[in-house]
Amino acid sequence: MRFRPAVKEDLDRLLGCVVDESISWSHPERLLSFLESGNYHFDRIWLALDDQSDEILARAVWWGFPDGPKPLALDCLYVRPSVRDRVEVAAELLRRGHEAFGVVPAYHVFVSNGWRDEPKARAAIAWRWEAAGRAGLTEELERLRYAWTSAEAEVPEPSERLVFRGDDDDEAFVAAFARVAAGSLDFHTRQALTTMDPMTQARQDVSDYRLLEGDREWWRLAYDEGGDLVGVALPSANNAGPVVGYLGVVPERRGQGYADDLLGEITRFHAARGAQRIVADTDAENVPMARAFERAGYRNFAVRLVLSANPVNT
Ligand SMILES: CC(C)(COP(=O)(O)OP(=O)(O)OC[C@H]1O[C@@H](n2cnc3c(N)ncnc32)[C@H](O)[C@@H]1OP(=O)(O)O)[C@@H](O)C(=O)NCCC(=O)NCCS
Repeated sequence: MRFRPAVKEDLDRLLGCVVDESISWSHPERLLSFLESGNYHFDRIWLALDDQSDEILARAVWWGFPDGPKPLALDCLYVRPSVRDRVEVAAELLRRGHEAFGVVPAYHVFVSNGWRDEPKARAAIAWRWEAAGRAGLTEELERLRYAWTSAEAEVPEPSERLVFRGDDDDEAFVAAFARVAAGSLDFHTRQALTTMDPMTQARQDVSDYRLLEGDREWWRLAYDEGGDLVGVALPSANNAGPVVGYLGVVPERRGQGYADDLLGEITRFHAARGAQRIVADTDAENVPMARAFERAGYRNFAVRLVLSANPVNT
């Protein structure tokens, strides 16, 4: 078996790979559109090939922003069922990719709600999970995927107690992000704060949100009537359409339902621009946020499983 990154000439054979397991994968339509948009690159797809037939026995496909210098997420991990040690082949593909990229991107797997009770989904995840762990992706996180649709849910009324304002100065958002990160129940925020100070973490978050497809002008800071900052609300978009982006309440104002005002503003903003569906994710353990989505008529439609490296080890 030989391992190498893909090249243009592999395209037909890549399109011929079929994953018929209960798990998200880089199906031909996704592959073609992401190669075209620059979210995928041939040299960010690693292959394991049969020595004799030169057929693709396994592949790992990573995703990134079109102009991003490094891949950000593993999108698809596939090994033919006939391969003897599926787990080790998959792990080796990941190790090769990590070495070539100089980073260890997280694996994002999309599964249906209740996947733990579905034997097919559990089996599809089990061997990938083991392979990911062997390649250093040892941290597990379950994120709930929510969607608001204009057909099913109301457009909320404007907040009666908050004023929303844009700000051209990124530093205003950095300062607000640093404040709302304190005491966050979000796994990645907490993980990041174990290796960097709050301002560095906030600056990195702001620059990551700038890479999303939503306009920077959409971002809002939320103030009370006395002019004190209560939180941030960042409507945004990805290549599938409008997303909630990010919202947060400063610690001293939590527990007063401000999450509803901020989420309401984001929903209203998108709805006013004609959005029919708005998508959002939150950690299963971020219960106040999950409840806010449910109160606002967002429906939990799937789960995103994220397997990542411990930042202390990378
Ligand atoms: C999630 C968040 C926006 C909730 O804001 P909020 O306005 O306080 O939400 P609610 O008022 O609806 O709070 C509901 C309950 O959860 C509690 N709660 C809210 N945030 C909490 C936190 N970070 N830690 C512990 N408990 C929290 C509240 O005290 C309240 O408890 P109670 O019912 O006993 O009074 C806020 O915690 C936050 O800014 N977190 C950091 C950023 C974040 O996680 N954003 C979401 C990313 S998708």
